[in-house]
Amino acid sequence: MPWGTKLHLTIFGESHGPAIGAVLEGLPAGEAIDIEQVLVQMARRAPGRDRSATPRKESDEPQILSGMLGSKTTGAPLCAVIANTNTHSADYDGLGTVPRPGHADYTAYLRYHGCSDVRGGGRFSGRLTAPLVFAGAVCRQILKRRGVTVGSHVLSVHSAADTPFDPVNVSAELLEALSQKYFPTVSPSAETAMRAEIESARMALDSVGGVVECAAVGLPGGFGGPLSEGVESSLSSLLFAVPACKGVEFGAGFGTTELFGSENNDPFYYDGAAVKTRTNNAGGILGGITTGMPLLFRAAFKPTPSIAREQDSVDLTAGTDTKLSVHGRHDPCIVPRAAVAVEAAASVALLDLLL
Ligand SMILES: Cc1cc2nc3c(=O)[nH]c(=O)nc-3n(C[C@H](O)[C@H](O)[C@H](O)COP(=O)(O)O)c2cc1C
Repeated sequence: MPWGTKLHLTIFGESHGPAIGAVLEGLPAGEAIDIEQVLVQMARRAPGRDRSATPRKESDEPQILSGMLGSKTTGAPLCAVIANTNTHSADYDGLGTVPRPGHADYTAYLRYHGCSDVRGGGRFSGRLTAPLVFAGAVCRQILKRRGVTVGSHVLSVHSAADTPFDPVNVSAELLEALSQKYFPTVSPSAETAMRAEIESARMALDSVGGVVECAAVGLPGGFGGPLSEGVESSLSSLLFAVPACKGVEFGAGFGTTELFGSENNDPFYYDGAAVKTRTNNAGGILGGITTGMPLLFRAAFKPTPSIAREQDSVDLTAGTDTKLSVHGRHDPCIVPRAAVAVEAAASVALLDLLL
């Protein structure tokens, strides 16, 4: 089913089929798109960069089939296809009958009566974030032209943490700089500590999760709507389309429950003619509508389910308990690559809101 209200995004394909891709309908015509910058975003998400990620190497170069003429959008649906060139399908033999704990093998088996393609995780693979990142990279450039900048950093990996964004004062320059990095952190020492966590999980045949913090600045106030039309509803519906995303919180989020109203309310003041708030526990959204303050949210990612350590599973054909250790090429931590997908989801959702 396509996602969106003004923009309609369809992501198609399976991890070990010939190709995956995206169709994005509703883009304005005549928008210049810098394909080099799209490729920068695709490369940030692509696997095989370093030991914190899966060694599956793929160039992830999108082939644009429609919707662009020269460097500009035509107004027709933008369709891009990304070839699956580096598949090791034999790694997935047996997973149709012995499901990986924590992955979607078992639920896909129930939902599709054993017919779904389990190779590489099929439709549930993190690889399906590549078309999302393509769509997001296009939307990011259109947003930028409208004064909106989106960026994120890895706020934590297991117990290693980065410096959080200042909720009232996130700069577009910082977000721009982070959105060019493979392992985006505000503090360089946080990256070192996080890499150490990932490496020790890898050595222990295990995996770790973490939190991505994302912001958008330059968003005007007054966009969104109440109830299910709200910015939170729209953003989180696309964020939960990123595999392994297990939680989303806006502004002070779950932390608001530990505050008094007098602490949590963001007091208003005039900054010249503009109404601002002194704090930003609301994360830039009140009643589902943007306040004009930085939009701020966090997305939690669980540890990668496929781990080499032996775990309990079941053999669905034999009807017996069994053991499983997963081999093949899996990220010991998907969080740095998920950050790119989070920015992409935010870019698509925010452009949908502004159009
Ligand atoms: C960028 C990215 C890469 C991923 N890579 C892997 C992987 O190598 N191995 C794996 O088991 N899961 C990986 N996942 C997570 C699974 O796709 C996901 O956990 C699974 O589909 C079950 O969905 P759920 O966790 O949302 O319930 C990845 C997710 C993302 C966003």
